[in-house]
Amino acid sequence: MKDLTVQIGKLPLKCPVFLAAGPLTINVENLQKAQELGLGAVDTKATIPSRYPNTKSYQRTFWDQESRAFSWVLGSWGKEFSYIEDGVEFLRNAKEKLSIPVFGNFKGLTGESEQWVSLATQLEEAGADALVTFFTFIQEFAGNEIEMIESIMTRVCSSVSIPVILKLQPETCFAVDTAEIVKAIENAGLAAIQISDGIAGYPGLFTDKPPYHPFQSIEFQARDAFITGPYLRPIIYRIVSEFYRETTLPIICSGGIWDGKSAIEAILYGATVIASSSGPCVKGWSMFDEMRQAIEEYMTENNFSSIADFRGLANEYIKENDEIDFADCCAVVNEDECVGCEECLVPAHCNAIEMHGEAAEVNKELCYGCCICSHLCPAEAITMQMA
Ligand SMILES: Cc1cc2nc3c(=O)[nH]c(=O)nc-3n(C[C@H](O)[C@H](O)[C@H](O)COP(=O)(O)O)c2cc1C
Repeated sequence: MKDLTVQIGKLPLKCPVFLAAGPLTINVENLQKAQELGLGAVDTKATIPSRYPNTKSYQRTFWDQESRAFSWVLGSWGKEFSYIEDGVEFLRNAKEKLSIPVFGNFKGLTGESEQWVSLATQLEEAGADALVTFFTFIQEFAGNEIEMIESIMTRVCSSVSIPVILKLQPETCFAVDTAEIVKAIENAGLAAIQISDGIAGYPGLFTDKPPYHPFQSIEFQARDAFITGPYLRPIIYRIVSEFYRETTLPIICSGGIWDGKSAIEAILYGATVIASSSGPCVKGWSMFDEMRQAIEEYMTENNFSSIADFRGLANEYIKENDEIDFADCCAVVNEDECVGCEECLVPAHCNAIEMHGEAAEVNKELCYGCCICSHLCPAEAITMQMA
């Protein structure tokens, strides 16, 4: 057994994977299930001071197999305990039944810090071991994101004695300078950054017959729909890597981390902890077993004794554009392994590959070194080699 312990502020988690807020955190039985599976912690569903104006609660999520996008709408799965009183009661109940850390998830609805402080202190009193909070809509920022985050979070962090985690949306990360937001986060006294919540988007449409309604729901497309799932993953890796280079704070990665490989990749890009919410909705609880085991096996195979041993290692290979000097490389076909399927002839830009008898052959003079054929080859018969 490997030591998988990680730390968020002063709070140790015995496993670097936790159940993130979402469909599975609406009842305590699910949180117990997460504990049985050996997860490091559980989050709760968001607690807000009052219902969003004009927003009803409904359960609308959609999984689009083809684009690998999982979409949801504000208010989905939130009905049970959107209000603070319900959130507090839920947390107390969860604390009675669980021995792993329980996070209190909350957000204020205005830019007034009193509201945020009040939610945070009530959740701490109810027994929360850490808090997770988020600024989902830019409407709260009105153009001064960083000042707003710093001032509200400073008040929250100084009002509680448990670690506070700030969860950011990809849009916020793109709108602000990473170094500046990191400075604000560190000044405020936050214990960790979670990247990320979903990104605004639409999953697609049924196009075959009117009324061309969206995938997301059987009757409407909410304007503020969020997307996560494997679709989001490359964007999340980039943001994690950017933050890793700016701060020593723990980074919690969520957003399409749905299997062991992506969990390991996220850690290699700089994540300390993995949080998953939508993945098990599609893949079932066994996703967590597979993820934990994959991390352990990877550590054994590579002789890593802790998460810190391999956290961020991939960043060494990330270069600024002006540092890059591409050497020529060329596709090479292993004739013995080529199955003659002609998949490598598909890329429209490429005139370098032709069939010679049963096997593909690359004309080195014409190969751009784009690497696409090597990814398309189902037999893994094509490798890229330096010219
Ligand atoms: C239906 C649904 C409801 C969610 N509700 C919350 C919430 O109440 N609080 C919160 O911080 N995040 C919430 N999230 C966001 C997730 O915790 C997570 O950050 C996001 O979905 C990306 O991770 P994933 O790909 O593992 O789902 C919700 C996600 C979904 C799918």
